[in-house]
Amino acid sequence: MDELRTLLSNNRRWAARVKAADPEFFSSRASQQTPRFVWVGCSDSRVPSDTVVGLKPGDLFVHRNIGNQIVHSDLNAMSVLQFAIDVLRVRHIIVCGHFGCGAVRAALGNEPLGLVDQWLRHVRDVRQEHHEELAALADERARADRLCELNTLQQVQNVARTGIAQEAWRRGQFLAVHGWVYDIHTGLLNDLGATVDGPEGIPAVYRLGD
Ligand code: CO
Repeated sequence: MDELRTLLSNNRRWAARVKAADPEFFSSRASQQTPRFVWVGCSDSRVPSDTVVGLKPGDLFVHRNIGNQIVHSDLNAMSVLQFAIDVLRVRHIIVCGHFGCGAVRAALGNEPLGLVDQWLRHVRDVRQEHHEELAALADERARADRLCELNTLQQVQNVARTGIAQEAWRRGQFLAVHGWVYDIHTGLLNDLGATVDGPEGIPAVYRLGD
């Protein structure tokens, strides 16, 4: 249990340090949150959302799962998006994939891993859709990096294709969905340049109410 005690004493020191630097820090945030960004990231412990973008508690509304996926039948992810967009009125949603992602690596292979295979199926579908492009790449590392990018691009689209995002655009609310990739070798983020900020950014098939 020693390692857990370490966490709790770390917490005491952290809270004291934050309060010393800004006595109002906790009290000013206690009654409500007003985050400016949603972060959709991988559960991977090497990609701590707040840390890599230098934000503090209260700045980032976070949803993380294996492979940073947005699946339209996932009640958890849909609830995060709906609350963030409709209630918190967050303006930017960042979907962040990362190089060295175990979910992407697993989806590139064919080894059965159990229940998680059902969840990884969505990443495997992205692999299948871009099979030719991936097969043409030089090695496994290049394929994994590219599938990481392609999966991130797909998840940007999946956010934008929700009725939740489209309803926000219909009522004139600003909402931009961005795709970034974090390089675990350098600690750097790369914007994939695939931002969607209106229904024109998604294929006609997915547009609702047109
Ligand atoms: Co990952």
